[in-house]
Amino acid sequence: MKILVTGGAGFIGSNFIRYCFNRSSNYEIINYDKLTYAGNLKNLEEFNNNKRYHFIKGDICNSDLIRQVLNEFSPRYIVNFAAESHVDRSILEPKAFINTNILGTFNLLTEANKYFHNLNDIQKKRFKLLHISTDEVYGSLKENDPAFTEDSKYYPNNPYSASKAGSDHLARSFYQTYKLPVIISNACNNYGPYQSIEKFIPLIIFKATNNKQIPIYGDGKQVRDWLYVEDHCEAIITILEKSNPGEIYNIGGSNEVNNLELLEFICNYIDKKFDIDSKSNKDKSSSLINFIKDRPGHDRRYATNPIKIKEKLGWEAKTSFESGIQKTVDWYLKNKEWIEDQRQNYLNINY
Ligand code: NAD
Ligand code: DAU
Repeated sequence: MKILVTGGAGFIGSNFIRYCFNRSSNYEIINYDKLTYAGNLKNLEEFNNNKRYHFIKGDICNSDLIRQVLNEFSPRYIVNFAAESHVDRSILEPKAFINTNILGTFNLLTEANKYFHNLNDIQKKRFKLLHISTDEVYGSLKENDPAFTEDSKYYPNNPYSASKAGSDHLARSFYQTYKLPVIISNACNNYGPYQSIEKFIPLIIFKATNNKQIPIYGDGKQVRDWLYVEDHCEAIITILEKSNPGEIYNIGGSNEVNNLELLEFICNYIDKKFDIDSKSNKDKSSSLINFIKDRPGHDRRYATNPIKIKEKLGWEAKTSFESGIQKTVDWYLKNKEWIEDQRQNYLNINY
C-alpha cells in the first residue's frame, strides 16, 4: 500500500513512518519533505536501505515536483503532515506559516485533485487524502467549558493556528467542491521520541537533565491535552483504513494537564531515576523552574473530545500519561547525541 507522506522527516511524520513499517511489510512510503530546520533525516536512518522507503526532498509549494512524484509513485493515500508547527516561531515570523501551511496545502490539494480525477474507478474508490491538523484551530477554552468537538467554532488566536485553520478550510472545500476524498483530523498536543527541544516536554527534559533553568510562560496554569505520538499514529492509520471521505475527526488524549503539573511530573520521574529523592528541595529538578513573560495571545486551555473517532472508528488513546512520559524521558536520556545534534545543527536558538 503506497502512502505519500509529506513532512515525514519531522516529529509526528517520522514516528508515523516508523509505525507503518513496524505494523506491516505491506506499506511503501514516499517521504516528501523540504527539510526545514524541523526536518531531520537522522530520524529515519534505519530505513535508508529499505526498498519500500523513498525520500524526496521537496517543498509542498512546488507544484511540478508534487505532480511528478504523484505520477511516478501513484500513491493510494496522501497524509499531509508538512507544516510550520511551532507557535512561538509563528509569532516572531509568521510569513513561512502562511506560505507552507496555507499556500503549500492549497498547492498539494490542487495537484492531488488533478491526480485523483485521472485515476480509474477502482483507484478513485480507494484514494484518500488525510490532512493532519490541530485542536488549536478552535481557540481557547475556559476552565469549565466542554472539550472541543468537530462542531466547535473555529477561533484561532495566533498566526500558526490561523494558518492551520486556513488550510483546514481549503481541505474541506476541495471535498465539497471537487469531491476530492479529503479527511481532516484535529489532534491535541503530541509528545514522544524525536520531538524538537523547542517544544515544551522535550525542553523540560533537556533543561532538567542539564541543570538549566526551565522557562514557564506566565503563571504556568495553561492546560493542554497530551497524546502519546504512537497513539496518534494509530489513529491516523485507523482513519485511512476505516473512514469515509469528507469526515473530520478530533483526536484527543483525554489527558488534561496544566504546565506546572506537567513540569512537576516530569521532574519527579527524572529525580527518581537519578535517585535524588532524599536530597533537599533545592536539589530537585523542579527547583529549576523559571517564570518568564507570557506568550502573546497564549491560549489558556485546550481539550479535545475524541468521542466521534471512538464511536465511529473504534480508536482511543491507549498509552497512560505515566508510561508515555516514562518512555519519552527514557528515550531522550538514551539519545543525548540526537539532542546535541539538534541544538548545534538545526535550531537557531541557543537552548
Ligand atoms: P514538525 O515541525 O516536527 O515537522 C514538520 C515537517 O514538515 C518537517 O520535517 C519539515 O521539514 C516539513 N516541512 C515544513 N515545511 C515544508 C514544506 N513547505 N514542504 C515540505 N515539507 C515541509 O511538526 P510536527 O510536530 O511533526 O507536526 C506535524 C503536523 O501535525 C503539522 O501539520 C502540525 O500542524 C500537526 N499537529 C502537530 C501537533 C503536535 O503536537 N506536534 C498536534 C496536532 C497537529
Ligand atoms: O494543540 C496542538 C498543538 O500543540 C500543535 O498544533 C502545535 O504544533 C504544537 O507545537 C503544540 O502547540 P503548543 O503551543 O501547545 O505547544 P508548546 O510545546 O509550544 O507549548 C506547550 C505549553 O507550554 C504552552 O502552554 C506553552 C508552554 N510553554 C512552552 C514553551 C516552549 C512554556 O511555558 N515554556 C516554554 O518554553
